[in-house]
Amino acid sequence: MLTRRTGYTFLVNNVLHLNYVGRDMNCPSLFSPLQLGPYALEHRVVMAPLTRMRAERPSLAPRPLNADYYGQRATSGGLIIAEASPVMPTGHGNPAVPGIYSEAQINGWRAVVEAVHAKSGLIFLQLWHVGRVSHSSFQPGGALPVSASAVPISPDFKTVTADGKVTPYETPRALETNEIAGVIESFRQAASNALDAGFDGVEIHGANGYLIEQFLQSRINLRTDRYGGSIENRARLLMEITQAVIEVWGAKRVGVRLSPYGIANDSGEADPMPLYSHVVQSLNSLGLAYLHFIEPRSSGAGRAEVNHQNVPSAMVLFRPIWRGVLITAGGFTGETAEAAIAAGHADAIAFGRIFISNPDLPRRLREGLPLTPYNRATFYGGEAAGYTDYPDYGELERA
Ligand code: FNR
Repeated sequence: MLTRRTGYTFLVNNVLHLNYVGRDMNCPSLFSPLQLGPYALEHRVVMAPLTRMRAERPSLAPRPLNADYYGQRATSGGLIIAEASPVMPTGHGNPAVPGIYSEAQINGWRAVVEAVHAKSGLIFLQLWHVGRVSHSSFQPGGALPVSASAVPISPDFKTVTADGKVTPYETPRALETNEIAGVIESFRQAASNALDAGFDGVEIHGANGYLIEQFLQSRINLRTDRYGGSIENRARLLMEITQAVIEVWGAKRVGVRLSPYGIANDSGEADPMPLYSHVVQSLNSLGLAYLHFIEPRSSGAGRAEVNHQNVPSAMVLFRPIWRGVLITAGGFTGETAEAAIAAGHADAIAFGRIFISNPDLPRRLREGLPLTPYNRATFYGGEAAGYTDYPDYGELERA
């Protein structure tokens, strides 16, 4: 028979145990498993796509240094989304960004993928076209960059030419209707190249003011053909690209990234809710691996140290509409990531800047270890400094 005391202990232990089990099943944490398409993630600390401009030149193929960098950040059952990679030559707007449209590039990426797989990690590639966020010095034949319409980025924003001059953006050339099929075909071919390279999936970059978002947003898209005007028409390029990529990969290995309420690269929709509700709802029907947001508070984090105040939260607004796995990114710490997952606002959190400076970020967050601060000066371009020389915690302890 249980005494009062042992009965109490029995009860507490079992209720706590039940709570614990319940927590795992119903109230997941950053370190609970997550099914993402066919993949069983072992934790929910995702590496966000991060442009680092360290590909080989002039091939724009990933090189061994890039494989070291991704290998350092791989964990068993952890998801890495590799940096945005142009699907065609007109998709470039910065130096030394790796592409995914040539044989050399496919081979370079294969070595990156192998380094991640060697640690039982998973890696998706982000497929990119910058559209007007470019300069003619990066374009084939020195032509003007392309966009939805001939609407330039505000002169308040500056770009850097291929030979390093700071200059305003040029007025882009609007893509002709009959050129759009070629862009979609380039995304399809790039998706197929990523499959050849051994990636586990691909993410379509529909965020941050790049080509797909230029088509989505009414301030930039002034077209009068079937890719402009109504919300359905403005969303058509994203939907056709996604469909083409799904034909290569199957929906369960394809993700889409969006940045509703974002302002990066002079983007922004006056009333984002109708547009993005339509887009999220349309993507719902495709059965994708995941939807991935950039929280508006961190919009533009690639260019400056931003923390916009009094802005909406993408995960809070769109979680009720999205039926699949939701990943979000933007200024998260371990604690706020736990809170977002516990509250059910997101299923996984992508980390950008602190993954740059903490190659063993999942371990640091899991064990509550201190984080190494990042150095913005070495985000873009260069060699190992600020790229592969950030120590993991074990090295810090031994130092
Ligand atoms: C970025 N970001 C980004 N986003 C994206 O979709 N594709 C990309 O290639 C890049 N490149 C990139 C480079 C660098 C150096 C930074 C800092 C950011 C945005 C990134 O994925 C992430 O959404 C933001 O950094 C916000 O997350 P954190 O940094 O607050 O965790």
